[in-house]
Amino acid sequence: MAAYVFSHPWRADEILPLDFDLKQVPGEATCLYIHDLAVLQRFRGRGIADRLLENLFSLADSLGYRDYTLVAVQDSEPFWAKYGFQIKTRLTYGASTPASKMTLTRHH
Ligand SMILES: CC(C)(COP(=O)(O)OP(=O)(O)OC[C@H]1O[C@@H](n2cnc3c(N)ncnc32)[C@H](O)[C@@H]1OP(=O)(O)O)[C@@H](O)C(=O)NCCC(=O)NCCS
Repeated sequence: MAAYVFSHPWRADEILPLDFDLKQVPGEATCLYIHDLAVLQRFRGRGIADRLLENLFSLADSLGYRDYTLVAVQDSEPFWAKYGFQIKTRLTYGASTPASKMTLTRHH
């Protein structure tokens, strides 16, 4: 596997703790929560993340979601900003990882 994106419906204002045991999707989900996106180092810079996100966006469109929430780590804020994500709050994720909660509303 060279890359993956993992996302699921969630409540727009709520951040999932890192070790959260997601048993079921909440009935009142209002956004897609992008839990993780990763591309193996040697496959980066070829548009793979871009294609994964385009697929996710079209899947979300078909499900009727236009709001997205994520926690950006590893200085990835500029990457997400390219897609229109905006920083809502800064936080510490897990034990000590500096992170930013970012959100996006896509209009299509
Ligand atoms: C961030 C990551 C997923 C990008 O994957 P990728 O396949 O190299 O990205 P792409 O080639 O599809 O690039 C898509 C666009 O983002 C840009 N981009 C890629 N990495 C970037 C970064 N770190 N910062 C800013 N822009 C970035 C690319 O230049 C491209 O923009 P362009 O179309 O205007 O040229 C990959 O570097 C990664 O797995 N990083 C480690 C894990 C991580 O940080 N995940 C996100 C944490 S929430």
